[in-house]
Amino acid sequence: MSEKPAPETAASAAAAPERPATGQTPILQARGLVKRYGRVTALAGADLELYPGEILAVIGDNGAGKSSLIKALSGALVPDAGEILVDGTPVRLPSPIAAREAGIETVHQSLAVSPSLDIATNLFLGRELRKPGILGSVFRMLDRSRMRDEARRHLDDLGIMTIQNPGQAVETLSGGQRQAVAVARAAAFGNKVVIMDEPTAALGVRESRAVLDLTLRVRDNGLPVILISHNMPHVFEVADRVHVQRLGRRIATLDPAGCGMADAVAVMTGAVDPADLPEEAHAPGGSL
Ligand SMILES: Nc1ncnc2c1ncn2[C@@H]1O[C@H](COP(=O)(O)OP(=O)(O)OP(=O)(O)O)[C@@H](O)[C@H]1O
Ligand SMILES: [Mg+2]
Repeated sequence: MSEKPAPETAASAAAAPERPATGQTPILQARGLVKRYGRVTALAGADLELYPGEILAVIGDNGAGKSSLIKALSGALVPDAGEILVDGTPVRLPSPIAAREAGIETVHQSLAVSPSLDIATNLFLGRELRKPGILGSVFRMLDRSRMRDEARRHLDDLGIMTIQNPGQAVETLSGGQRQAVAVARAAAFGNKVVIMDEPTAALGVRESRAVLDLTLRVRDNGLPVILISHNMPHVFEVADRVHVQRLGRRIATLDPAGCGMADAVAVMTGAVDPADLPEEAHAPGGSL
């Protein structure tokens, strides 16, 4: 049940590197997204591609439109123009619920966990499991033991062993463990994409480490991840490709194995024109 998906066959990705699978149809794609707030243009024709099996980092200066882009992809804002495609098919995401139904789960920066509730209840918040039969359908009784069992399974799938008891109140967890619960929830219910907005911003070194490991595990369990982060060492450690957002648009997609953090920051701030970087700095898959 919790087996990993079979690895890509070499034949299907003959010319492309094994990961990311940039030769394939993007799982999630944005084309020419525009969003204006009065005179402010938050998105000025933004593109993005997320391929199977990858962690795509999104970096950019303050106000570059990262959150706006992620909000459009998670149904939290409706763009004025442009389109969003899931598996190559145009979709409308008029609400966060619509995005979830399309398989896109988002871990927002301000964690939407309820501290006074236990871990299992938080995992199933809004999607509670009811008891079978009339007890559940008529009396709306929650099936707590099944939720705890399944919560344990989801935590185990992601190797979150530091949490021992799914019945523990979230307020008693460390910041990193809380973040882990939010990531576990997204991984449990996302069946296409997990988006994480600055997941390590408020965490210490050890907790950040745990969340980064978790992010890698989510990818390795078969869910591609979009990771928004200002933390360049984190980005360069886990990302397969780096989307650079500037002035409301993507201006480059960099290969973290082919360029340095200083290059990425220079492109991000406009100090360097991405066209002036060597070819190996650019990642395959929608750089232009
Ligand atoms: N609700 C809003 N009303 C007016 N302007 C907005 C609104 N949301 C975003 N903007 C503007 O759109 C631009 C892009 O904002 P966005 O939040 O997407 O940037 P960001 O890249 O996430 O920045 P940060 O790194 O600071 O989080 C900014 O100039 C911002 O002021
Ligand atoms: Mg933001």
